[in-house]
Amino acid sequence: MRAKLIVGNWKMNGSRAVNATLLEGIVAGLGNAKAQCAVCVPAPYLQQCEDVLTGTPVGWGAQDVSIHACGAYTGEVCATMLSEFGCRYVIVGHSERRAYHREDSALVAKKALAVLAEGMTPIVCVGETLEQREAGETAQVVGAQLDAVLEALDGASVTKIVVAYEPVWAIGTGRNATPAMAQDVHAQLRAQLKARSAEAAAVVPILYGGSMKPENAKDLLAQPDIDGGLIGGAALKAEDFLAIIHAA
Ligand code: G3P
Repeated sequence: MRAKLIVGNWKMNGSRAVNATLLEGIVAGLGNAKAQCAVCVPAPYLQQCEDVLTGTPVGWGAQDVSIHACGAYTGEVCATMLSEFGCRYVIVGHSERRAYHREDSALVAKKALAVLAEGMTPIVCVGETLEQREAGETAQVVGAQLDAVLEALDGASVTKIVVAYEPVWAIGTGRNATPAMAQDVHAQLRAQLKARSAEAAAVVPILYGGSMKPENAKDLLAQPDIDGGLIGGAALKAEDFLAIIHAA
């Protein structure tokens, strides 16, 4: 049985003072939470995460990575650097990067490889736009996004990823996919993992992201193929993030 995993994606939010209060609040409120949890923060705050979270049950990570090893790539951050700051996870292929930075699935696959090469866990994001859903293209779109990554990885590496289904139309809108809608896509993604290897299907967590909140988390997380959440807005308030963790 896969342990539930709740990951906060802070996106481009935070300050040292706000982060200190948020991180301490999360650690203090974990209690006997069964779910695993982590926060993926802007790179400048990785040292603060390492300082505050080392020795606690809360992991941390980044929201992107260069495909290159260190070198003449101004402004980029390589996987080795993220690993130096104790990152366990790196989000790759988030819809906001696919949209704003024209990241395609071939690039996302290379990012996942770079993360795995440093012993970290890529959180591979897939998701359709509202237009694609309304055109009946959801299965094809998310299937192709995941396949691009699965085809780039060897059998052992496939078991070391996390997948996140984030319908673009649900991100930041307050309009989450219903549990049934999300479960349908998660079941497809699970089948794709199984087609690659039974072990991958058994161990790879598939997270749901897109307006998961304290009030809808329980029903979403009760679905058989929803193994956790990738949380945006609700991750910026300790009480909301904790409510989702405790709902898992
Ligand atoms: O990566 C998680 C994020 O895209 C979801 O955002 O605010 O809808 O929880 P939000």
